[in-house]
Amino acid sequence: MKGIILAGGTGSRLFPATIAVSKQLLPVYDKPMIYYPLSVLMLAGIREILFITTPHDKASFVKLLGDGTDLGCSFSYEVQESPNGLAEAFIIGEKFIGQDSVALILGDNILYGSGLGTLLRNKISENKPTIFALEVQDPERYGVVEFNKDGKAISIEEKPSNPKSKFAVPGIYFYPNDVISIAKKVKPSSRGEIEITSINNHYLNSKELQVVQFPRGTTWLDTGTPDSLADANEFVKVIERRTSRKVACIEEIAFLRGYINKFQIEILQKKYGNSDYADYLKNL
Ligand code: G1P
Repeated sequence: MKGIILAGGTGSRLFPATIAVSKQLLPVYDKPMIYYPLSVLMLAGIREILFITTPHDKASFVKLLGDGTDLGCSFSYEVQESPNGLAEAFIIGEKFIGQDSVALILGDNILYGSGLGTLLRNKISENKPTIFALEVQDPERYGVVEFNKDGKAISIEEKPSNPKSKFAVPGIYFYPNDVISIAKKVKPSSRGEIEITSINNHYLNSKELQVVQFPRGTTWLDTGTPDSLADANEFVKVIERRTSRKVACIEEIAFLRGYINKFQIEILQKKYGNSDYADYLKNL
């Protein structure tokens, strides 16, 4: 399975912080935001990853992450000219996806929880479109899933003003290869975007869609506003200081999953100078 991280958009709700800097490169406590979704794909066992950025931010992402070989992965880059919607990622990424299945994760979504990697690896499969759901207080800001009494998904609506449930769809999606042709047929919504919710509804109507409720211990943070970004900073800071373990340390994940060995960690450590992050890698 291939992976796409969508890191486009203007980040306008965070202006002026994101006028000159990509939102997904802003720090969340001690590392750039993009490390968090990248770590989730790596935990899911995905190593071939395409980053989709705005045209002017691409060079900064390449500078930060390179071609991925030092993490035992393969990274490539494409641009999204304007924010035309999440589903456009499959059209931009068509060549990269080739004949494979594909995961999409949004560059500003942070997911954290014990056993998250195992859960993802157990639930995803090449041919089964799979999305997730989590209860939130403000479902009207997201895609919303309604479940019947048996826990089966029966409707998905994008930012409904009267949500039918409190279950929001976080920005992580797993699809078979036919998502490319489905995305090409999606008509733009009233906000002018090719919606991921239209893709999910296609698979819901064809009775293929699997909607997995994340267990209670899973934390999902979005970082779209100054307050939610500040909350994410605080959350990561508290977890890391209390446990002495880093959240979303991509080198640690590469090492623990056997993508790289301890000698490669030693080399990677040099990239981080005399930071606390470098010390953490040393102590691994
Ligand atoms: C997008 C999706 C929405 C999903 C959300 C997750 O919203 O359209 O269905 O719940 O990501 O972060 P957007 O970021 O485009 O407002």
